[in-house]
Amino acid sequence: MTVCDYKPGLEGIPATQSSISHVDGQQGILEYRGIRIEDLAQHSTFLETSYLLIWGGLPTKTELEEFEHGIRHHRRLKYRIRDMMKCFPEGGHPMDALQACAAALGLFYSKRALNDPLYIQNAVVRLMAKIPTMVAAFQLMRKGNDPVQPRDDLDYAANFLYMLNEQEPDPLAARIFDICLTLHAEHTINASTFSAMVTASTLTDPYAVVASAVGTLAGPLHGGANEEVIDMLEAIGSVENVRPYIDQCIKEKRRIMGFGHRVYKVKDPRANILQKLAEQLFEKFGTDEYYEIALELEQVVTERLGAKGVYPNVDFYSGLVYRRLGIPTDLFTPVFAIARVAGWLAHWKEQIRENRIFRPTQIYTGSHDQKYVALHERP
Ligand code: CMC
Repeated sequence: MTVCDYKPGLEGIPATQSSISHVDGQQGILEYRGIRIEDLAQHSTFLETSYLLIWGGLPTKTELEEFEHGIRHHRRLKYRIRDMMKCFPEGGHPMDALQACAAALGLFYSKRALNDPLYIQNAVVRLMAKIPTMVAAFQLMRKGNDPVQPRDDLDYAANFLYMLNEQEPDPLAARIFDICLTLHAEHTINASTFSAMVTASTLTDPYAVVASAVGTLAGPLHGGANEEVIDMLEAIGSVENVRPYIDQCIKEKRRIMGFGHRVYKVKDPRANILQKLAEQLFEKFGTDEYYEIALELEQVVTERLGAKGVYPNVDFYSGLVYRRLGIPTDLFTPVFAIARVAGWLAHWKEQIRENRIFRPTQIYTGSHDQKYVALHERP
């Protein structure tokens, strides 16, 4: 390998072969197992889509019922996990809490029987069932309240909103939240999925795989961006302030949160869907003061940076949807994780089926043959 082969951020370098999802960044197309995201958003549910991603095809009625049944019955957390969570500082970020809890599952369920289909199935069900409960429990515990027990009669999305807000959600709100989960479930080899694959390639347990992916998702250039979008809209404060704000960002070469993507050079198809979902929510439950600012921002950024392929990404409108659903800003990224665990697990399964440990190389830029200088002889 020569220096010319090195691509910062591995841009354009294939890291694996995968049949899970596909992105056409020029045309703004996203497919899960060959099915367009628009179709899945309209006709599927998050759990059905997760099944599709993880097991490779749409389930039969019985397969879907069994999958949903398994998840409903594994939603509860062991009291020791809840006790562990009581020791977390309430000021800590919920992504850190989630990472610790996901890793802790490995203490209870780690057998590493990666050749056993039942082990794989149980791990998938447990992780998908328990992660929403962990996020909701941390939210209540940091407010000084007891966590709300999951309700078996509610579906995946409705149950999460119920555990979070301590009341049964409006059906439209629950359906929209379910679509948001579908939209965030998978997105090829992004940073957290790559992290999951690298961890998986050591043949460690799936709880460690998910914990490492959660840590990666937390950063502001990845899953953390939707939180920063809301902070940015708040800082801008009014439609009139949008142009000066963007001018200043461009002048100072600062990133505008919720815009730009390594792969998409047009508006992210998920941003289009999320924008429509936000509008449906505003119609039913009242508008959001930040929406007008967001629309102006999209227009100005498109004018100024569209030529570079910088358009709204998935994080731009998702925060506005989550705000209307009563989700606190610092839970946006944990909610992203609830959805993306499906994609991580799909890649985990794919990785361990034909595994080779990740071990890339580097271009060494340091020196050679340096002499060790004793501490007392150093300047
Ligand atoms: N604001 C201003 N300029 C931008 C932005 C942005 N958000 N994104 C890209 N650009 C410009 C960048 O300055 C560069 O211009 P030039 O060629 O003149 O130097 C050009 O567009 C290409 O950018 P890049 O740095 O090569 O792009 P990248 O592929 O390395 O970075 C990104 C992708 C997502 C990290 C970046 O667009 C970004 O920092 N966006 C803001 C954070 C964000 O919204 N992240 C969420 C990403 S989508 C969901 C997810 O992955 O979790």
